[in-house]
Amino acid sequence: MSTIKNQERLEMNEPIIRELEEDDLTKGFLNTLDSLRKTSNLSNGKAIEIYKKIRTNPEHHIIVAEIEGMIVGTTTLLIEPKFIHDGGLVGHIEDVAVDKKFQGQKIGEKVIKYSLEFAKNQGCYKTILDCTDNVKKFYEKIGFKNMGNELRFDHN
Ligand SMILES: CC(C)(COP(=O)(O)OP(=O)(O)OC[C@H]1O[C@@H](n2cnc3c(N)ncnc32)[C@H](O)[C@@H]1OP(=O)(O)O)[C@@H](O)C(=O)NCCC(=O)NCCS
Repeated sequence: MSTIKNQERLEMNEPIIRELEEDDLTKGFLNTLDSLRKTSNLSNGKAIEIYKKIRTNPEHHIIVAEIEGMIVGTTTLLIEPKFIHDGGLVGHIEDVAVDKKFQGQKIGEKVIKYSLEFAKNQGCYKTILDCTDNVKKFYEKIGFKNMGNELRFDHN
């Protein structure tokens, strides 16, 4: 990880990349998720309930990018222990989003790279994700390789 201190990052207008805290729920986190799907209409009570549920799983990490006290980027990293690969760990990336006003400033790249480093430090031997064709290039530039098909079953 970089040795630049958080104060120096703020002065450089560089995002601070870290794990989600409860206060972030009212500091732009839900609005950032609107880039994926409307989420900012969630009530504060429901958002806290979901946050607390997520917090019960130590393998569920939500990474955020903060600029000037506001959350402008996020992704989720789930770490899965496996019986195959001798108990090896696999990272799963989900819900990658950057606030519309901040897209194109390398914030998405920074949250993904942070998550990959985090997964590596936790002992994951690989990290995988699903995406649509229109964002494939974004992930390929970071180093992801296309490995196959994404399938989905809808439960309703
Ligand atoms: C996709 C998304 C997360 C990218 O974040 P971002 O901060 O805007 O992207 P970055 O500035 O970090 O881009 C890094 C590089 O990827 C490229 N890139 C970003 N989005 C791209 C896309 N959709 N298609 C092709 N290239 C893309 C950038 O041009 C940049 O290239 P460069 O290094 O040559 O300059 C963001 O645009 C977003 O939130 N989109 C809406 C939600 C979404 O689709 N999420 C992904 C779900 S799988």
